Amino acid sequence: MLVFKHIVDYKAWHAQQTGTIGFVPTMGALHQGHISLLETAKKQADTTVCSIFVNPTQFNNADDFAKYPIQLADDYRLLIEANVDVLFLPDTAEMYPEGLSQTKIYPIGYLDTILDGAMRPGHFQGVCRIVHKLLNIIEPQVVVMGQKDFQQCLVIKQLIEQEQIPVELVLAPTHRANDGLALSSRNQRLSAEARQKASLIYSNLCRVANGLKQAEPFKPLQEAAIKQLIDHGFTPEYLLLADANTLVVCNEVSDTEPMVLLIAAWLDGVRLIDNITL
Ligand code: PAF
Repeated sequence: MLVFKHIVDYKAWHAQQTGTIGFVPTMGALHQGHISLLETAKKQADTTVCSIFVNPTQFNNADDFAKYPIQLADDYRLLIEANVDVLFLPDTAEMYPEGLSQTKIYPIGYLDTILDGAMRPGHFQGVCRIVHKLLNIIEPQVVVMGQKDFQQCLVIKQLIEQEQIPVELVLAPTHRANDGLALSSRNQRLSAEARQKASLIYSNLCRVANGLKQAEPFKPLQEAAIKQLIDHGFTPEYLLLADANTLVVCNEVSDTEPMVLLIAAWLDGVRLIDNITL
């Protein structure tokens, strides 16, 4: 695996390439969810590039940034086992020579104001800023992102359209542990007891989804799921039903539009998110 820490070195390598590039941007602390994104990228393109960069501008919470797990030796091992061709591993000065304060505002509108946009002010602006930079540097034909970050996927789709970036966005399904918990680098910050409880996020999402399939009204299903989570020590931020294309929040299932159930909840000082499409 080739490792580039500097843009100029990556660009020199890229200038020699004739095939297509499939790209997976990450913040490291890699797990099987990331590996499945890389496997998707491998199938779509000749060369697979992964980036690891813990992006300071997308953290609205300093504590979350400080505690974000960094485990480069394990990441290297996983990337080599997965036959990844190139790792782009820049530092903050390389990615933000202009400094961290945000000058350009990405016009992502409504998506910036709801759900994680509302709960994590500035988060999606930071995501747009870094993904825009990374796509300009890596110049992939395909970029693969995980559906676990459902709202992020819609934001990146909009970024690609607005900035007219010549890349295809491929969304890959959420990878789950045996008990249903969506894989996330933050899961490793849960205590053993909290990790056991964490599967209640997915089981409650499934219960709401099944209720909706039986034509039960959303509100009582939502209230019962939130109550169960609170009773088990979670602090839910939201459990909402939305249009899967626009994220406009709804109180009932549409017969014509695809829908998504989205959840964010704190457990043991860790913020967990998940979703399922209906
Ligand atoms: O999903 C993530 O890990 C990050 O938001 C991303 C896309 C790598 C940007 O920093």
